Amino acid sequence: MHLSTALALTTFSSLVGAVPLFGTSPSTGHGVRVAISKRSWLCDSDGIVKKAELRDQIHYTLEKIQGGFTRYQENIGEAHPLASSLSFRRPVKRAGGHGGDSLTDANSTLWYGEISVGTPSKTFTVDFDTGSSDLFLPGANCGPSCSGHKIYNVSDSSTAKDLNKKFELTYGDNSTVSGEQYTDTVSIVGLTANQTLGAAEVYSTGFQSDHFAADGLLGMGFPFYLAKQGSELYIGGTNPSHYSGNFTYVPVTTKGYWQVGFDGVWVNGTQVKRSASAIVDTGTTLILGETDGINALFAKIPGSRQVENGLYTIPCDFNTPISVGFGGKEFSVDPKTFNLGYHDSSSTDCVAGAASDDSLRGKFWIIGDVFLQNVYTAFDVGNGQVGFADLHS
Ligand SMILES: *[C@@H]1O[C@H](CO)[C@@H](O)[C@H](O)[C@H]1NC(C)=O
Ligand SMILES: *[C@@H]1O[C@H](CO)[C@@H](O)[C@H](O)[C@H]1NC(C)=O
Ligand SMILES: *[C@@H]1O[C@H](CO)[C@@H](O)[C@H](O)[C@H]1NC(C)=O
Ligand SMILES: *[C@@H]1O[C@H](CO)[C@@H](O)[C@H](O)[C@H]1NC(C)=O
Ligand SMILES: *[C@@H]1O[C@H](CO)[C@@H](O)[C@H](O)[C@H]1NC(C)=O
Ligand SMILES: *[C@@H]1O[C@H](CO)[C@@H](O)[C@H](O)[C@H]1NC(C)=O
Repeated sequence: MHLSTALALTTFSSLVGAVPLFGTSPSTGHGVRVAISKRSWLCDSDGIVKKAELRDQIHYTLEKIQGGFTRYQENIGEAHPLASSLSFRRPVKRAGGHGGDSLTDANSTLWYGEISVGTPSKTFTVDFDTGSSDLFLPGANCGPSCSGHKIYNVSDSSTAKDLNKKFELTYGDNSTVSGEQYTDTVSIVGLTANQTLGAAEVYSTGFQSDHFAADGLLGMGFPFYLAKQGSELYIGGTNPSHYSGNFTYVPVTTKGYWQVGFDGVWVNGTQVKRSASAIVDTGTTLILGETDGINALFAKIPGSRQVENGLYTIPCDFNTPISVGFGGKEFSVDPKTFNLGYHDSSSTDCVAGAASDDSLRGKFWIIGDVFLQNVYTAFDVGNGQVGFADLHS
């Protein structure tokens, strides 16, 4: 996961769903493939995993998902079916130490691509996050906190319209991104809509250009983007236009997240744990599960061990076959993508791509980039389903 997943979604709900993103889809009704770049910033220059940041990411993911459950309850009037399975509380900051809870140090992996905004249109890079539902860019009043990013200047867009409404995003460390809400013309690969977006006046450190490559963030939480029949967005590995075989589709079970039925994880041919649901989240780096399930997974990997709360290592030369099951099919996880980098400078142990957290109570897993890099994923709003296909090698 990355910074954006720290969104305290409850404070930003006014931007959500006000206008469906990209309400006009092409008449063909076929899917949209977005060129998405993958960047990994999780390691330092020696290839050693920044573990404090990794832990921050886990916390922000859990906070984001939990915030979404709260918002679901506010919008729908009843508790999200998974809400009782997550009870995250941010750890108390240790005096003088890193504390593991500063958003502002997070710097990680992004799925990002381009959108164009305004009239005449200007191009911006955005981080695509299937685990949140908002769009914002740095605004003209942002000043130094947005320097290095391309500015969305509403004065230069004839279609920008001020909604005279503020927005504020609050993070776990109490830093904020805030600004003004507008509607404007937003296009992504030929799909155009009049869309609500935020022009930020303040970017917290975590979104500043030395920490965050994209200019802004585009949340694609179900069902708030491409909200028109037949629209799809595909996210793939290095070459998103190449997959082989057929898609295996699984229906979204509760609209709110890209939440689907989950068959579990197989390690060296053995199914280690069955869990009912998974939330598929491009904004999360790891595969996250409850402690028992993740312990069972690593019990099948010779030489693995838990090094600190919820983080595990594997031998750096690890090549145990791991696969993740959806819709009755197992999809392999390349041992290279399951290996995040060195645990420390002297070690032959590497940090593993799955982690646990006590706050996860067993009903669902969160499936992030460690898996998504291995498959071609279709987020299909029109049919309310997620599809996975094997990547061409
Ligand atoms: C925004 O656009 C207006 C009108 O073109 C211009 O006067 C102003 O300097 C621009 N602001 C920034 C920060 O670029
Ligand atoms: C976009 O939508 C807003 C709110 O519905 C509306 O006020 C505005 O005129 C629309 N802009 C365009 C260019 O259609
Ligand atoms: C954030 O602010 C709230 C309200 O002022 C406070 O209760 C909370 O402890 C703060 N959290 C952090 C991590 O500083
Ligand atoms: C984040 O990653 C970028 C790109 O690799 C790097 O330039 C920057 O120094 C990193 N920031 C931190 C705080 O690690
Ligand atoms: C894909 O689906 C079609 C139609 O159901 C079937 O004929 C074909 O064999 C499938 N291909 C693979 C690789 O499974
Ligand atoms: C897979 O399991 C077999 C049988 O239990 C074992 O001999 C082998 O070492 C395991 N392979 C790996 C890579 O973990």
